[in-house]
Amino acid sequence: MTASLEQLNAQYQDLGLSLALTALREHFKGRIVFSTSLGLEDQVITDAIFRNGLDIDVITLDTGRNFPETYKTLEETQRKYGRKIKVFYPKTEVIEQYATEKGINAIYDSVALRKECCAIRKIEPLNRALEGAEVWITGLRAAQSANRSSLALFEADPARNLVKFNPLQAWSTEKLWAYVRQYEVPFNELHQKGFPSIGCAPCTRAIAAGEDERAGRWWWEGGAQECGLHLENGQLVRKKAA
Ligand code: ADX
Ligand code: SF4
Repeated sequence: MTASLEQLNAQYQDLGLSLALTALREHFKGRIVFSTSLGLEDQVITDAIFRNGLDIDVITLDTGRNFPETYKTLEETQRKYGRKIKVFYPKTEVIEQYATEKGINAIYDSVALRKECCAIRKIEPLNRALEGAEVWITGLRAAQSANRSSLALFEADPARNLVKFNPLQAWSTEKLWAYVRQYEVPFNELHQKGFPSIGCAPCTRAIAAGEDERAGRWWWEGGAQECGLHLENGQLVRKKAA
């Protein structure tokens, strides 16, 4: 990579999604990985990657605690595009030990135990999925929460030694739905039942009108709303000063 992140942010600012992903594939010579949670944002990016036939590895983390509707979305997506989405699982022995020693639902007992579950079920498999990648594409958007409001299009991830690309950084929810309708993108039916943001079943609830999009994530902790996937080095998703 020769251009700085500032240059990349300026160059890609006004490109549409398909053009941006195509330009990204041409610019970076190494492996590019897109991690999809199968949520609405990620379905839009998956559509653009698959419809343009781009050489980008699409992966998902099956935590073992996903909603049945999420698995249905995975199947529908693979069927529609005829492309594989590589599924990563937590390490069997580690999750067996956690569930046996601490309890399958120990996530509600303390923040530390909840974070340990995220570390085992999400962060370790993600780090494995990103091994050897030069670029990591995500579906993060600035409008999703106050935590994410200062998100940039391109960011450094020094801990993983890669560049992170958030092509939907400036997208609104309305723009996402317009894209989904235009290209007939398959989506998780929970989005139409009060779930704008979907993670693991025990850690996601529907939200009420007027609540923050991510208010249904880890709600009992009273405002944590990040599992750590995007907080590895404290720089990618910068908390606003109080
Ligand atoms: S999270 O950190 O709270 O879980 P969120 O659900 O908003 O994140 O998703 C943000 C981005 O993180 C997604 O666009 C995706 O790139 C990645 N991500 C989150 N969950 C998963 C998952 N289960 N599998 C793959 N990628 C994921
Ligand atoms: Fe575990 Fe909940 Fe984190 Fe999923 S979101 S990995 S169930 S703590």
